Amino acid sequence: MNLKIAVLSGDGIGPEVVMQAKKALYAISTAFDHEFIFEDAFIGAVAIEKSGKALPTQTLNLCLNTDAILFGAIGDPKYDNDPEAKIRPEQGLLQLRQELGLYANIRPIKPYKELLDASPLKRELLEGTDLVFYRELTGGLYFGEKTLNEEGTLATDLCSYSEEEIVRISHLAFAAAQKRRKKVTLVDKANVLETSRLWRKVVKEVSKEYPEVTLDFLLVDHAARYLVMQPNRFDVILTANLFGDILSDEASVLTGSIGVLASASIGEKHAIFAPIHGTYSKVKGQNIANPFGAILSAAMMLEHFGLDKEAKKIYDGIEKAVQLKVVTQDLNPDSIFGTNEIGEFIINYILDREDLLYFNNDNVSIGRSTIV
Ligand code: IPM
Ligand code: MN
Repeated sequence: MNLKIAVLSGDGIGPEVVMQAKKALYAISTAFDHEFIFEDAFIGAVAIEKSGKALPTQTLNLCLNTDAILFGAIGDPKYDNDPEAKIRPEQGLLQLRQELGLYANIRPIKPYKELLDASPLKRELLEGTDLVFYRELTGGLYFGEKTLNEEGTLATDLCSYSEEEIVRISHLAFAAAQKRRKKVTLVDKANVLETSRLWRKVVKEVSKEYPEVTLDFLLVDHAARYLVMQPNRFDVILTANLFGDILSDEASVLTGSIGVLASASIGEKHAIFAPIHGTYSKVKGQNIANPFGAILSAAMMLEHFGLDKEAKKIYDGIEKAVQLKVVTQDLNPDSIFGTNEIGEFIINYILDREDLLYFNNDNVSIGRSTIV
């Protein structure tokens, strides 16, 4: 298959983790005889510095004309601490989601057996967890009208949802549930919000087309508690933009590190694949950022194009890395492996290279690695 892939590394640790994902995809193209062409473009704080815009026109045009987008992270502490800033890096991502019509954000959460103890939660409670978020991504509080009065003393963010916006993501969530454990949980705040009551009505209607799938409803405050108390009760979690943003970060605790989580943002024509984590600027360039999320996002990209064998190779490679404790320090504080070494390990796995053998447990436990 020929694929043109836009690479938007963004800010902070974005470039170094995306580099590993790109390497993995390159190895896949070699091993499975595909042609992937990568083209880099700026977005976020780095783009503001260069062009004054968080999403330069050139970047948008590239994204509109590629098959898929590999994305890193966006943001800079400089802007977080400046509420007056007129242009913010995050606007670049939000605009891109809107321009590309990426209405569904898919975030799978399935802790690796070997990493159960990396989570602050009890192991018994995590066992059997396998859930996926279907977060609405182009509506709700993120995109409603925003106001700030002249005195700067009163601000509003409008939350609005149309039936159509709810229907399209609901279909994706139910179709996914049908292939999984056949359960959709709609998370909302229907005891307070009018938009949530519309979600309940519309989702109930859509559910009739999927008789094998059970639908239940959970208020978002209860959901926040259940996610850390009984995470294995969930299969597909369908929810609005802001709730999904917050809950998926919370759920990342189940996997031991937000660094292992990947996501796909899907629309009718376009798609972005990105790790869930942020820019973690503090450790930028230190070769300690976890590249699993970015590499797994590349696997989600392959799946999106029906390249299941290829995606599986990456999933298996990550599984193997986890088993051999070839992980970054967020998962094992004593680890001697950095971002780059993990990328190399995955490449070796994909290409069936013998070097992989050097990563056996003995070498790892005495702190020796032959890979530089
Ligand atoms: C995410 C991020 C973004 C969001 C930010 C960077 C705008 O937190 O993808 O979850 O809030 O959607
Ligand atoms: Mn977020």
